[in-house]
Amino acid sequence: MTRWRRTHTCGELGLDAVGSKVTLMGWVDVVRDLGGITFIELRDREGVTQLLIGEQASPEVIEVAKRASSEWVVAVQGEVLRRTEATVNPNVATGAIEVRADALQVLSEAKTPPFAIEDDLKTNEDLRLRYRYLDLRRGVMRRNLERRSKLAVGGRNFLAEQGFHEIETPYLTKSTPEGARDYLVPSRVHKGSFYALPQSPQIFKQLLMIAGMERYFQIVRCFRDEDIRADRQPEFTQIDIEMSFVEPDDVYELVEGLFVSMLSAIGVELETPFLRLSYREAIDRFGSDKPDLRFGCEITDVSELMLGSGYGIFESTVESGGVVRAIIATGCAKYSRKDVDDLEAAAKELGARGLGWARWSEEELKSPLVRHLGEDRLKEAFKACGGGVGDVLLIVAGERPLVADVLGGLRVQLAKREGWIQEGQWKFLWVTEFPLFEYHEGDGRWYSMHHPFTAPHPEDFGALESDPGTVRALAYDVVANGYELGGGSIRIHNSDVQQQVFRALGISDEEAHEKFGFFLEALQYGTPPHGGIALGFDRIAMLAAGGTSLRDVIAFPKTTSAFDLMTGSPSEVAKDQLDELGIGIKKT
Ligand code: AMO
Repeated sequence: MTRWRRTHTCGELGLDAVGSKVTLMGWVDVVRDLGGITFIELRDREGVTQLLIGEQASPEVIEVAKRASSEWVVAVQGEVLRRTEATVNPNVATGAIEVRADALQVLSEAKTPPFAIEDDLKTNEDLRLRYRYLDLRRGVMRRNLERRSKLAVGGRNFLAEQGFHEIETPYLTKSTPEGARDYLVPSRVHKGSFYALPQSPQIFKQLLMIAGMERYFQIVRCFRDEDIRADRQPEFTQIDIEMSFVEPDDVYELVEGLFVSMLSAIGVELETPFLRLSYREAIDRFGSDKPDLRFGCEITDVSELMLGSGYGIFESTVESGGVVRAIIATGCAKYSRKDVDDLEAAAKELGARGLGWARWSEEELKSPLVRHLGEDRLKEAFKACGGGVGDVLLIVAGERPLVADVLGGLRVQLAKREGWIQEGQWKFLWVTEFPLFEYHEGDGRWYSMHHPFTAPHPEDFGALESDPGTVRALAYDVVANGYELGGGSIRIHNSDVQQQVFRALGISDEEAHEKFGFFLEALQYGTPPHGGIALGFDRIAMLAAGGTSLRDVIAFPKTTSAFDLMTGSPSEVAKDQLDELGIGIKKT
């Protein structure tokens, strides 16, 4: 069989090519056998071209056309013909022409695929993951990966133009704390010892600043053994950035430019600068440290209004340091009792003990709270929250964080339910001044809210030991559409301060030395002030694809139980391989 060279893709031939001889290669998308004439839709990465196998075709061509079926790989040589007026397909780029097949070769036959290669596929995801290479043939998946590639190239070019060096850091390394469990890799040479796969290149990028690189970036894989959700994968990609001699404003400006440049590569225009909200303000106004600002529905504090109302539950909550807060479900006075019950169930699911509600329609103000608060006070509460006739008021009382969680959660559920979110919009913001630490009741100790290398806010430094809960960090997150797209901080660049923070975290000097001795030592060799950020690249690609699952923008993702259905990993390994590593398996 002679080897042919492809002259064109299946997406490019138009009327200007009519009369020319071409060679195309691709997958058989559809065969339509109309008796005397057969049409084959030939598909490659760039599009689809119709092949015509008419009665005048050679017997060899007719024979191949009769045999070929979906997903076979074929090559065709033939002449480009203008389609008749009636058969032009304006929905396809090549719809004005067809290629008369003068010669047809089968390059590879295919088994019948387990699902159709089409965008609108209704099959279960496990089957798609098991046959991921077929799933990726679907246009929608290919476009997701293409867009992802454009974002990566756009980001890389921008950072290179801004004077950043792309530097790789090791994958076989020591634990890099980001709050998850490590994936461990046993060493054959040093039996009984393990490398850890990096949860992030945090320590290495700081070492690169100590090394004088000044501006570093890397599009890098990170590994975290944590519970998987739709927006989390055990291995994921960060655009990791670190800069010397910077303040938070320098990082904000750079990252805003980076997003503008990346998203312009896929035709999205962004407004800068991004809005900034302190952590406290984000929680108070939107009930979340990653608020979705594509819709309003802000939380309002009505604690004052409830003091003196005579309603015991609200009054005692406020008197004991809690809050009473509310949101308005605009235009929802039409809600039935069942709708309200659903919201109450959702509030309880989010941790509330109950949900106060009032429905204000033209005819009446209906609420179980009327007999406790009176109509006038309820109407005042509506007004304080910016609501009125036609709306529903939702009130939650309790401790501040709980009320934030509940109303923040309800706000998002209402937006989805009521269609308040306009697709295709991007609402970015910076969330700043995170607390440095958070307390875990379970083991009665403080944890870093970001990671232990984050610098404390200089104004709060004095409280590091005496009142750690009040110390703010020079840390920031970049958020879009309710997703945390990135997080970073100004770092500690002094060994003593670093050690002080370790102590506040309950890490003894001995343990700090054992785990991070090399880093504490490095800090003593002339460390520039530095800071940076890491962006969750998969999440950016997911939002760019208009999706809600990272699996749709990762070529070969894992399931929620961290399993690769295609390769069947993780899997058991042979005994001799374990012996070589000095490892025995304990079966429980
Ligand atoms: P952080 O842990 O906030 O910061 O991670 C940065 C960003 O990475 C994304 N991300 C994830 N994406 C998918 N799956 C996961 N399991 C996952 N975990 C995190 C998020 C997140 O905002 N070293 C610091 C950065 C720094 O301080 O410079 C770090 O890794 O979008």
